[in-house]
Amino acid sequence: KPQLLIDTDPGVDDALAILMAHAHADVLGLSVAAGNVGLAHTVRNARTLVDKVGGSTPVFAGCPTPLVRLPDEDAAFVHGQDGLGDAGFQEPVTGIADEHAVHALLRLTRERPGEVTLVALAPLTNLALALRLDPELPQRVRRLVVMGGAVTGHGNTGRVPAEFNVGFDPEAAHVVFEGFPDFDLVDWELTLRHAFDEADFDGWLAAGDQRAVFFERIFRVARQTNSERGRRGIIAADALAMAVAIDPSVVVRSERRRVGVELDGRLTRGATVVDWGGRLGLPAQANVVLELDQAKFAAMVRRALGADPAA
Ligand code: BDR
Ligand code: CA
Repeated sequence: KPQLLIDTDPGVDDALAILMAHAHADVLGLSVAAGNVGLAHTVRNARTLVDKVGGSTPVFAGCPTPLVRLPDEDAAFVHGQDGLGDAGFQEPVTGIADEHAVHALLRLTRERPGEVTLVALAPLTNLALALRLDPELPQRVRRLVVMGGAVTGHGNTGRVPAEFNVGFDPEAAHVVFEGFPDFDLVDWELTLRHAFDEADFDGWLAAGDQRAVFFERIFRVARQTNSERGRRGIIAADALAMAVAIDPSVVVRSERRRVGVELDGRLTRGATVVDWGGRLGLPAQANVVLELDQAKFAAMVRRALGADPAA
């Protein structure tokens, strides 16, 4: 089983990814960032999720703001004001670990050199700080999988080509992309190509256990927003990155490229720039995932919802 350390800003698609992780892997911890909503909410949501999976996964609170500029938008209109669909959950039982997320990232990877897969599902603030504190972090981890970027410029933020996680904290994404010599990049446009059929997904929700009931509840606001924006199908960006982290064989097609982050730009701050033609003369560091095995991905999600007849 892979050993995962998940940096996250739950977030409805983070929630699905975290359910997947607990169904398929060993989860060493959730390090929490601000992003979809503020840190107080994302930390509380992470604790609610650990309650839901009935585990003892530690929840580490991380950075409350991006590294340099304060954000000009969040994603509450997708995920709900509280980040989990405003479903009115009670105060979680799971507590907050007594260690900052950045220190926890460094400690847990030191305790298990070469074993940990880092899964980045949020703005990259915590990871960037960890890397600045200890530039040897990349040598200690088994893999890094990042949900971030929009490799052909169809982003999902107010600055058109920027994807949310990279656009929320571009400097942090820059630090991580420059500091890690090798990572898997699951971008926003891959998400759009790998939506689930709504009827299929509803069937899994109906067939699932209490995790499916929970997910249906937190997903209502996002579903409504997505359909109002004319998006077809069920999209869950972080779930795709989690699938790649759990089982790399889910990747059908990828290309190794140099990927950078635009830090300036009137229209483009936060855009990911992929050197498709190799013109920069810099080593390719990102394995840009271009296609996934949809059936394998679906099977992982079904099992995470308790809707897998084979399980
Ligand atoms: C990413 O941004 C967040 O809104 C989602 O949770 C996901 O991590 C998609 O762009
Ligand atoms: Ca997220």
